[in-house]
Amino acid sequence: MACDVSEEYTAIAQRYWQQAGVAHKVDLRIAPALETLDHLLATGEANTFDFAFIDADKGNYDNYYERSLQLVRPGGLIVVDNVLWSGRVADPQAQDERTAKIRAFNQKLHADQRVTLSMLAIADGLTLVLKR
Ligand SMILES: C[S@@+](CC[C@H](N)C(=O)[O-])C[C@H]1O[C@@H](n2cnc3c(N)ncnc32)[C@H](O)[C@@H]1O
Repeated sequence: MACDVSEEYTAIAQRYWQQAGVAHKVDLRIAPALETLDHLLATGEANTFDFAFIDADKGNYDNYYERSLQLVRPGGLIVVDNVLWSGRVADPQAQDERTAKIRAFNQKLHADQRVTLSMLAIADGLTLVLKR
């Protein structure tokens, strides 16, 4: 399943899904991701996903994480992109709202006893979150 609000961006993605021969595997839901994730939970899909990838609007990362944590099965993996935010999370001068939210989210994950973490310092930073 893929969640996005943009017809424009996902039209590009769909072209590449076709070229890669995987389009038939992708269930694209055009709607705010929180609505789609809440609908999945309401319809009994908790603990049924193996994997979730979080890469949409940064202000909602914690909301996406909490829902994904319910949707993936124990032993399932959540991957979160942009956790370094171009290094701004480690820059005390960076006090804008999005940086503050990603910084707080990283700190929350670090202390979260529900999961095991590994953070990869590649590209813009990826956190691998294994649900216990
Ligand atoms: C950085 S892009 C990542 C897209 C994809 N993961 C990729 O790597 O190509 C962020 C995406 O989040 C989508 N987005 C923004 N707000 C959203 C929301 N509330 N619900 C779902 N998708 C959203 C944007 O339309 C955009 O396609």
